Amino acid sequence: MARILVTGGAGYIGSHTRYFLEKSGHSVVVVDDLSRGFKQAVPDGALHQVDTRDTAKLTSLMRQERIEAVIHFAAYISVGESTQRPELYFSNNVCGSLSLFEAMLEAQVKCLVFSSTAAAYGIPAKVPILEDEPYAPINPYGESKVMVEKILEWLDRYREFRSIRLRYFNACGAEPQSGLGERHDPETHLIPLMLRAIQTGKPVTLFGDDYPTPDGTCIRDYIHVSDLAQAHIVAIEHLLGGGKSDVFNVGTGAGQSVKQVLAAVEKVTGKKVPHTIGPRREGDPPSLVADSRKLQNVLGWRPERANLEQIVADAWAFAQNVTA
Ligand code: UFG
Repeated sequence: MARILVTGGAGYIGSHTRYFLEKSGHSVVVVDDLSRGFKQAVPDGALHQVDTRDTAKLTSLMRQERIEAVIHFAAYISVGESTQRPELYFSNNVCGSLSLFEAMLEAQVKCLVFSSTAAAYGIPAKVPILEDEPYAPINPYGESKVMVEKILEWLDRYREFRSIRLRYFNACGAEPQSGLGERHDPETHLIPLMLRAIQTGKPVTLFGDDYPTPDGTCIRDYIHVSDLAQAHIVAIEHLLGGGKSDVFNVGTGAGQSVKQVLAAVEKVTGKKVPHTIGPRREGDPPSLVADSRKLQNVLGWRPERANLEQIVADAWAFAQNVTA
């Protein structure tokens, strides 16, 4: 069992991964600057409020806590915001990551799992997407993740710094036992926005129904956050066991359209989702579906909660508690 530093552990995916790491017997130290995360998502005593750009603080924390490996979530994630303030994304996501890697090298910690994204592929030529699809980000958020992926490739080559890059598709749902769930401020993701539309009566806008897809709405690969968290656990254990650096997609391999998500939300909640159809959102590819067989074959990971209605039910249970 290892001592693992989780950056961004007060965020949505980071907090779920912290929960499952502890369940697997690892001990976890969380770093989060709380600029986007929630203090309540971290158990008392585990949180260190540190900006990842503070290399000296990270170095001494890793030494003091005898950290053996790092899972790095801390980043800004909004595509829209990244087009308005690219400098913010490069500073936090790229400079913050580089600072963390420098601190790790200084503290002799050389295993890292990195949160990357399907946004690294931009508008892919082939769907389902394989990991060897070239980097082609179309927004500063995706570019910031690609830059960090490239830094990690060089660190692996010249500094014996081993890393697993996980390219997430659409994280959603919540772990029912954990009390954790999806909370972004502002919220931009489809499922929480549909649930909120039910709760508030304020319609959600479906961004475009004229895509070249069977029902005209965009297709995405919705992956349960608990399955995504488990992917981090197999990845970090692979590295701790001496495994080599690699990159993996994390998705279910099944695509769902925006209208299919709407139907699932209505079925699970038993309520109509107030909605309107609006224009396309800039930069939305028509279809993003993962080929995640590599992760299944190499690390033995399996998505266990790929059922969309299950995902929505877990998200709905959390959403009802948050507003209660
Ligand atoms: N959508 C709507 N209305 C909304 C919000 C979303 O119709 O109010 C649609 C989007 O157009 C898209 C789908 O719902 O087709 C999913 O949108 P999300 O915003 O929930 O998620 P994205 O697919 O845009 O984003 C995800 C990750 C990003 C990552 C991106 C890669 O959350 O971090 O995939 O393209 F960058």
